[in-house]
Amino acid sequence: MADGSNVTTVTVKVNRFTPRAERERDRARGGSPFARRKSPFGGSSDAPARRRPRGRQWVQEYTVPARPEDTVLDCLLTIKRTIDPTLAFRYSCGHGMCGSDAVAINGTPNLLCTATLKDWAKRPNPLAEADDDGFRHTGDADATDSPTDDTSLGVIELAPLPGFPVQRDLIADIDPMLDQIRKLKPYLQAQGTLATTTEGKVDVFEYLQHPEELAKYEQLSNCIACGVCEGSCPVFAGGDAFIGPAALIWASRFVNDSRDTQAMARMDAIDTADGVAACQSVRACTRQCPRGIDVGEEMWQIVAKVRER
Ligand code: SF4
Ligand code: FES
Repeated sequence: MADGSNVTTVTVKVNRFTPRAERERDRARGGSPFARRKSPFGGSSDAPARRRPRGRQWVQEYTVPARPEDTVLDCLLTIKRTIDPTLAFRYSCGHGMCGSDAVAINGTPNLLCTATLKDWAKRPNPLAEADDDGFRHTGDADATDSPTDDTSLGVIELAPLPGFPVQRDLIADIDPMLDQIRKLKPYLQAQGTLATTTEGKVDVFEYLQHPEELAKYEQLSNCIACGVCEGSCPVFAGGDAFIGPAALIWASRFVNDSRDTQAMARMDAIDTADGVAACQSVRACTRQCPRGIDVGEEMWQIVAKVRER
């Protein structure tokens, strides 16, 4: 974080959200906590994918000292420690390994801890001044017309991860994605080989594999379930219609694992209307995967595999 050398500032605009308190929600339902509205389509109107949290929304602007190589997470921690302890965001490892801090940065899903200010802060657009005729030029689509001074790195806009219900400020409820991944049994189902020691004693179960077989799924096993691909996918953003690219990546990871004995059952499980059939090959999921997985290409591969089986 900024240590005094080479320090400028950055302005962070955060889409904030405070949910309505439980008691207020019950009052809005008619005073009774049992008076839950029924969905005309069956199921509960409180189903996570359909739930639209109610509460207060506003945009809050903070300006903090920062250096170009600082991450967006560094800035949020500075804000939380020195300006506004009520700002809510989630993170854990701080270096792109846990996937807990996915948000929309300038409208694009990404991780707070790996996005740097030099890559994401938008400088003011000098062409966005009104000319003599009163018209505004919009020369550079990536620039912003927000006011910043000469020492500022620019402006960063933050919002919760799209496609998921927001819980508070930058914290989205990613349970719908984790539930979909869980449904597809994201663990190895294999027949192990009993290995014995030189004395003939039982040692361990071995799950043997050649390096070429490992190469078929190794990259896929790097998925950290951050939800960035889901937040980028316009079909997943529609709610229940699609199990989402992250769940399909996890299915594909085990379908491509030569040790797994359930490849057919796994492909049956995703050969559904809300499974591979719902993928529209938009490939928006590919662009920002923080683990370098070519999600769009992998989607295409697993769809082809399911159809050919
Ligand atoms: S495939 Fe990439 S973007 Fe999608 S959940 Fe996994 S790590 Fe995140
Ligand atoms: S905090 Fe763990 S991936 Fe960013």
